[in-house]
Amino acid sequence: MVNPTQTLAWQSLTAHSQQFKKPEFLLSSLFQEGRFKEFSASHGDLLLDFSKHYLTSETFRLLTQLAEECGLQEAIDAMFAGEKINYTENRAVLHTALRAPAADQLPEVSEALAKMTAFVADVHSGKWSGAHGSKIRDVVNIGIGGSDLGPAFVVDALATFATGDVNLHFASNVDPSHLKDILAPLDASTTLFVIASKSFNTLETHQNALLAKRWFLAAGFTEDEVASNFVAITSNLDAAKKFGLTEQNLFPMWDWVGGRYSLWSAIGLSIALSCGMDNFKQLLAGANSMDEHFKHTDFSHNLPVISALLSVWYINFFDAPSSALVPYSQRLNLLPAFLQQLYMESLGKSVNVQGQSLDYRTGETLWGTPGTNGQHSYFQLLHQGTEFIPVEFIAFIKPENLESSTQYNHLLANCLSQSMALMNGDPQSNPHTNVAGNKPSSTLLIDVLTPYNLGSLIAYFEHKVFVQGVIWNINAFDQWGVQLGKNLSEKVVKVLEDGNASNQLDESTMQLINHIHKVRN
Ligand code: F6P
Repeated sequence: MVNPTQTLAWQSLTAHSQQFKKPEFLLSSLFQEGRFKEFSASHGDLLLDFSKHYLTSETFRLLTQLAEECGLQEAIDAMFAGEKINYTENRAVLHTALRAPAADQLPEVSEALAKMTAFVADVHSGKWSGAHGSKIRDVVNIGIGGSDLGPAFVVDALATFATGDVNLHFASNVDPSHLKDILAPLDASTTLFVIASKSFNTLETHQNALLAKRWFLAAGFTEDEVASNFVAITSNLDAAKKFGLTEQNLFPMWDWVGGRYSLWSAIGLSIALSCGMDNFKQLLAGANSMDEHFKHTDFSHNLPVISALLSVWYINFFDAPSSALVPYSQRLNLLPAFLQQLYMESLGKSVNVQGQSLDYRTGETLWGTPGTNGQHSYFQLLHQGTEFIPVEFIAFIKPENLESSTQYNHLLANCLSQSMALMNGDPQSNPHTNVAGNKPSSTLLIDVLTPYNLGSLIAYFEHKVFVQGVIWNINAFDQWGVQLGKNLSEKVVKVLEDGNASNQLDESTMQLINHIHKVRN
């Protein structure tokens, strides 16, 4: 447990960073022969180019020294060994165990995978049918946060790998319109609900599960038939059984898997129902290969470590307020939303592991949308705005469909030219048309979008977040702030429902509630 600001590397980096802040500094001037070789690293089909950064050999040496001084290797070993590194909840952090090869799997993981395999095969073949014996056509995943974002992102990303047996839908928002719009065209007899909730008491999921059940019963089915069209993934078996589910319909979750790291567990059931168990296992295998890379590769060639150190560099030494993630792939449309939870729930902390207030910055705002669309909205601010925002570009080298390869080349060309434009700018005497450049970015190129490579990509980000948590000496695995919102909303809903003024609410909130009541009446 080290205060990063007290390390020698931090002090050296503070002095070292000054050279990049001088008005005459030119990022493009760092380019000398061999720079790409020095500042790029790869694993499997992933190649990370980090040469367009404020980085010299000395910077990179100091950043890796920082990781060493902060005890990163020991922390990695502790996580993989199952030590209870989620200190505030006294839990191990073992999502990596979910993607271990069969021979190294925990018995409960093998058992869960076997149950998923049998279930997916039965749904696809029609052996598992709805209450009146109809083949399942639509699957509605009801969950939120990690029980929604991961599966929704992966199902969307792997659309071309879908077996076509079922259509997937994701309902998360407690706004009833979300689920109602999904249900409107569906037939209750051919619809399967997957209730994904580790706790089985998350407000949104609970409300949506009840709404789904009411809809199912209103279609003429009985309470006894609920078990034919509903399954759940949870660690709260009692609550799930009270809802009407039986052992057969329940898939396990464990306290050593955090919500935002759970798509690898049975929470990924919707992924498997969409693209089949073989593809789901490929996703796990790809993540496992990134785990091995992360565990065993020296820091200067370790993709998640490099990426995390660059984030620390800009957040702590250049006060970057946010960073943009721009996948040049429509298939990765939901990646920024998924990563927002992973990053901001993990790294949005202002006390260290010992509970002391921090005097250095931690998690930044992460945002982005797919390119090229972003180029026609927020890229103007990246190029000419006053904010300093590092960018991470991601692109797949091979198109999904060879027939459209020329059009696909336009996508890649835009990705490459944006990072070039950010770095070089376009110096002009007219201040309005002048584009200053000097904006750093990374480019992650991946050979092709497959379940295996997608697994590696997600694990890359998970480990990047882990490294940042270690450097900042924070617990990246709890989320007490989220809990506060959950508790407060329970109090407010009571006042909304029964209209009784509560002196526990502030005047602003009370007046808003009064206004709501007035308009409704
Ligand atoms: O958003 C907060 C959170 O606690 C996440 O960590 C989690 O992914 C989500 O709620 C859903 O929790 P559950 O799976 O228990 O319904």
